[in-house]
Amino acid sequence: MTQPECIIEIEALSTQFGDQVVHRDINLCVYHGEILTLIGGSGSGKTTLLRQMLGLEEPTKGSVRIFGGAYDDATFNLKKKNIHNRSGVLFQQGALFSALTVFDNVALPLRELHMLSESMIRNLVMMKLDMVAIGPEHADKMPATLSGGMIKRVALARALALDPELLFLDEPTAGLDPELSESFIELVLTLRSEMDLTIVMVTHDLDTLVALSDRIAVLADKQIVITGTLGEVCQFQHSFITSFFKNIRHKFEPKNYSEQTWKTAPMPS
Ligand SMILES: Nc1ncnc2c1ncn2[C@@H]1O[C@H](COP(=O)(O)OP(=O)(O)OP(=O)(O)O)[C@@H](O)[C@H]1O
Ligand SMILES: [Mg+2]
Repeated sequence: MTQPECIIEIEALSTQFGDQVVHRDINLCVYHGEILTLIGGSGSGKTTLLRQMLGLEEPTKGSVRIFGGAYDDATFNLKKKNIHNRSGVLFQQGALFSALTVFDNVALPLRELHMLSESMIRNLVMMKLDMVAIGPEHADKMPATLSGGMIKRVALARALALDPELLFLDEPTAGLDPELSESFIELVLTLRSEMDLTIVMVTHDLDTLVALSDRIAVLADKQIVITGTLGEVCQFQHSFITSFFKNIRHKFEPKNYSEQTWKTAPMPS
């Protein structure tokens, strides 16, 4: 089987803030079409790694290649804007701009292109809101008047505004009740089947992790200690993994996971 293409390739990445070492010698490849979930303890550097993948934060050492180019390559820097247009992000904090309506939040990335007329923008925004099951009656509302689940869905609509190839989801179901989490998970699965999406997700929610992940990368001891299927990760001996999965170990036999949860994404041989 041929090796699938790495849409993101991280090599020998280290991060240090002052005296604090966050990452040490991290290597990771995100395959085209997969949902890769990053897990790790609070403060282990998951959001920082996502920000580095997006070029919003520079690693202290090492390189991040995305869509075949590296951020440290001078000519590639010129193309950063283009990368942002090919990626959508649902941030962990501050999912929406509180001073903008739902409509204007989703319209923002489209307006920043300076290429589309207002009527085209209106059509696209309404289409994206429809994709995430937000009715047109909510378009003029302010974020403060929305429920937590609606905020996440509008934020997802904004992340999808430019039809990205790559979607970053940082704790997408945090703070949602189980029912809303489930509908968010279904929404991501539907979008994934309809669009040619590669997704990098951070979550500490087991249901989200099990339902969506093709592969899981575990950030512990400042390193990626294992990358693999749910079954492979569950069987890996590490104290963080034991405690993270303790509540589901009794529900499933690890050997069943990979078959049950695997999607159709191209996988490494
Ligand atoms: N720009 C920065 N300057 C200094 N320290 C930072 C900066 N960004 C992150 N850190 C520190 O790096 C560590 C990792 O932060 P990060 O937000 O990546 O963790 P996380 O794994 O996403 O945590 P959580 O699960 O709580 O969201 C933290 O100790 C944080 O305080
Ligand atoms: Mg975080």
